[in-house]
Amino acid sequence: MAVRRRGLAAVALAVAASLLMAACGGDDDSGSAAPTSAGPVSGKFEFFSWWTGPGDSEGKQALLDLFKQQNPSITIVDAVVAGGSGTNAQAVLATRLQSNDPPDSYQRHAGAELLADIQAAKVKDLTALYDQEKWRDVFPKSLLDMITVDGKLYSVPVNIHRSNVLWYNPKALEKAGISGPPKTWDEFLQQAPKLKAAGITPLTIGPLWTQEHLLENVLLGELGPEAYAGLWNGSTDWESTEVKAALDKYTAVLKQSNLKQSAADWQPALDPIIEGDAAYNVMGDWANTYFLTAKKQAWETDYNATTAPGTEGVFNFLSDSFTDPVGANNEAATMAWLKLAGSKEGQDVFNPIKGSIPARTDGDPSKYTGYSAIPFKDWTDKNTKIVGSLTHGVVANNAWKADIETALGDFVSSGDSAKFASAVKSAYEQDK
Ligand code: GAL
Repeated sequence: MAVRRRGLAAVALAVAASLLMAACGGDDDSGSAAPTSAGPVSGKFEFFSWWTGPGDSEGKQALLDLFKQQNPSITIVDAVVAGGSGTNAQAVLATRLQSNDPPDSYQRHAGAELLADIQAAKVKDLTALYDQEKWRDVFPKSLLDMITVDGKLYSVPVNIHRSNVLWYNPKALEKAGISGPPKTWDEFLQQAPKLKAAGITPLTIGPLWTQEHLLENVLLGELGPEAYAGLWNGSTDWESTEVKAALDKYTAVLKQSNLKQSAADWQPALDPIIEGDAAYNVMGDWANTYFLTAKKQAWETDYNATTAPGTEGVFNFLSDSFTDPVGANNEAATMAWLKLAGSKEGQDVFNPIKGSIPARTDGDPSKYTGYSAIPFKDWTDKNTKIVGSLTHGVVANNAWKADIETALGDFVSSGDSAKFASAVKSAYEQDK
C-alpha cells in the first residue's frame, strides 16, 4: 500500500461547535466491517486497553460488566497493559499488530494517533456501522470530521476527557495562607515560595508523559488557544520569542515540582495532594475517579479542581476510541462491543465512573455531578474554545510525537529551550 504521509491539518482550535481539523489522507485498502444483526454474541472477546489500576479501571469494568450482562455466554479477556496514557500498551500493541495478532478491539485516542493504523490497513472501516446506528446524528459533527479519513470512519469514541485541569488540595492552600488556585502560571510562581514555607510541595509530577501533559498545558496557558493550535499545524513558529518564553516558563514551573522524586505514574503523583503534602497537579479528568472513587475524597472539601492556569474558557480535549482490527477473531463480538461503546446506554454507564463525559451529545446530564458537571457544561458551551491534546494523541502523528518526547526528556534535564524548539520544529518538517 502506498502510504501518503500527509500532515494533519491540525487546526486544533475552534470556537463553539466548530471543532478542530480537517481529516488527512491515506490510501485505503483496509477491510470494511459488516454490521451484524442484534442478539447476544458468544465466544472469546479480547479487549485491549491500558485501563488498569485505580482511577482507570472502574469505568472500564462497569462497561465490560454491562457487555457481559447483555451477552452472558461471552468470555471476556481483559488484556490490559499497565501504564497511564498507554505508553507501555501502545508498544505492546504495535508488536501485536506487526505480527498480525490483534485483539478483538483495542483502545486508541481519537485523532492523529490512529492514522498510522489506518494507513497500514490494520483497522476496518466502520462507516456502515455509523450509518446503521445513526451515529452521525448523535456524535458532534466536529468530532466526526476529525476522525474521518477519506470519507470513512475507523473508530468509535466512547468519551471526551479534559486535559487542562489543575487539581488541588484546598486545605493545603489554606494552610499556606493562599486564597485560591492561580489564574496564571506567574501567579503559581508567586504562590510557590509561600507553599514551600508551609512545608508543602507546590506541584507534583510523574513520568515523562505527565511532564508532556504539563508542557502542553503550560504552552496553552501562556500562548492562548489560537497560538497553541498553531503549534501543531506549522502556523506557530516553535522558535519564536513567544514560544521560547513559554518553554522557559515551563522550566520555571517544573523547578517548583518534585521532579527529583517524580512518581512512577499519575496516581502516585496525586497521593501527596491527598495527604496534604503537596498543593497542585495538572492532570486529565480521569484524576476525578482516583480522588472520588478510589480514594474516597470529598469533592470541593478534600480536593478541588479548576482549569489549568491561563486556560479559563478553553477545553483541551482528548477522546478514547475503539477499533475493529483487521484479522480479529470474533467479528460478531467486536461489532456488539462497538455498538455498546457508541450507545447512549454504554456511554452513560461508562463516563460518570470514568471521569469523562459522553462523546455523544445526548448524555443524561443528571449523571454528571460534582466535578463532572463542569466539563459536561463546558464542552457544549458555545463560548468554549476547543483545542486538542498532544500527549493523548489528538494533534500530532505518532512519529512526530515520539520525536517530541525524545527531545522533551533532554529538555527537562537540560532546560535548553532553544535546542528543544529547534528539535521539535525540524521533527515536524520530517514527520508531517
Ligand atoms: C489517557 C486516556 C485516559 C486515561 C489516562 C490515564 O491517555 O485517554 O482514558 O486512561 O490516559 O491512563
